[in-house]
Amino acid sequence: MSEATASNDPIGAQDEQLAVNRREFLNLAWLASLGFLTLEVSGFTIAFAYPRFKEGEFGGIFTYGPVADLPEVNTSPLNYPKVKFWLSHTEEGIYALYKVCPHLGCLYGWSDQEFKFICPCHGSQYEYNGTYIQGPAPRSLDRFVIRIVDGQTGEELAVTPDDGGPVAVPDNPNAVIRVDTGAKIIGEVHD
Ligand code: FES
Repeated sequence: MSEATASNDPIGAQDEQLAVNRREFLNLAWLASLGFLTLEVSGFTIAFAYPRFKEGEFGGIFTYGPVADLPEVNTSPLNYPKVKFWLSHTEEGIYALYKVCPHLGCLYGWSDQEFKFICPCHGSQYEYNGTYIQGPAPRSLDRFVIRIVDGQTGEELAVTPDDGGPVAVPDNPNAVIRVDTGAKIIGEVHD
């Protein structure tokens, strides 16, 4: 009896088979779209996790040179607003000073008359090399890592020490200065 029923209802069996195939297809399509979404999100995450900075932009490397073009020792610091640093040329060497005041983040300025950096917001003051003088700032100015390299061979001639000290300027007409605005050394905290 049951055999007769089955053989008498071939269309119902086909419908059921079609419904199963359709369900499988929808499941596969859903899984595939989920896979694509995961890949897309991972791609964006990786892209944001590894920011790329262009040469000469803030966050990247800024090149200045040759060193023979540097202004005289103890003259007004060079101002680079786009890459957010001042370049000071002291007798001991050069410094790249981050332009943001370590107190509450204002942009401090240079005073030729007083020969020091002064922040207009709350009056913190800093020496030509970024050392804290007075005011509410908790520390000296932050400095960027400088590398001086031979512009022809690429050989590294000098680099900022770990404590952010000066980089002596070599007596090499081909030397160029490379300031890494992605590598900041935090200024020394004062008593
Ligand atoms: S932000 Fe510079 S002294 Fe306050």
